[in-house]
Amino acid sequence: MTASPSCQSLSPVLETPRLILRVPTAADFEPWAAFMADDSTRFIGGPQHPAVAWRGMATMIGAWTLEGFSMFSVIEKATGRWIGRLGPWRPHGWPGTEVGWGLAPEAQGKGYAAEGATSAIDWAFDTLGWSEVIHCIDAENHASIALAERLGSRRLRSVVRPPPLEGPVEVYGQTREEWRTRRR
Ligand SMILES: CC(C)(COP(=O)(O)OP(=O)(O)OC[C@H]1O[C@@H](n2cnc3c(N)ncnc32)[C@H](O)[C@@H]1OP(=O)(O)O)[C@@H](O)C(=O)NCCC(=O)NCCS
Repeated sequence: MTASPSCQSLSPVLETPRLILRVPTAADFEPWAAFMADDSTRFIGGPQHPAVAWRGMATMIGAWTLEGFSMFSVIEKATGRWIGRLGPWRPHGWPGTEVGWGLAPEAQGKGYAAEGATSAIDWAFDTLGWSEVIHCIDAENHASIALAERLGSRRLRSVVRPPPLEGPVEVYGQTREEWRTRRR
């Protein structure tokens, strides 16, 4: 079961010890586009022109209205900087209820992705009522696989995601019960 926009806040804000997760706004575009232009995006489609990044950001913001959930912008509390986006993601035809992640290079290697994803997965299970989370990951994306496994997810299967994406990816994931058992 998933929650509809009418039965929950369209502007949720999640807080962790070091991060704020909030719905993206137009003010996030500059750092968002800089991240999407960086080489570290090689496993999420590769570096993009800002005009293409704008479309991607608009899609993620629009999904909040369409579905009542989408990825959050991640704000570093200590600096107020936008450092990435992560959270629930299930565009049309998607192979499951995903919690995905992507942080700007300067924000990686600090445990921020795990901290933010933990909060987003709690939110997906507790507020959206999801019964499973998945993470679609390129088999060569070792940092993302390490994060999925750190969160308790395991490899489930391979899939080909809907157009315009191409090529197989690995699906990692876990059930709500597995997550809650681990969190207790
Ligand atoms: C995938 C991605 C989000 C992982 O980010 P990450 O920062 O490595 O993940 P974590 O939050 O789990 O951080 C773990 C690292 O932080 C380090 N760390 C430092 N301080 C820490 C702390 N206080 N708590 C936990 N870990 C900490 C850990 O030692 C670990 O480093 P290591 O990998 O060198 O051992 C990141 O590589 C990324 O955004 N890549 C580009 C986009 C992308 O490919 N997205 C995934 C698509 S499937």
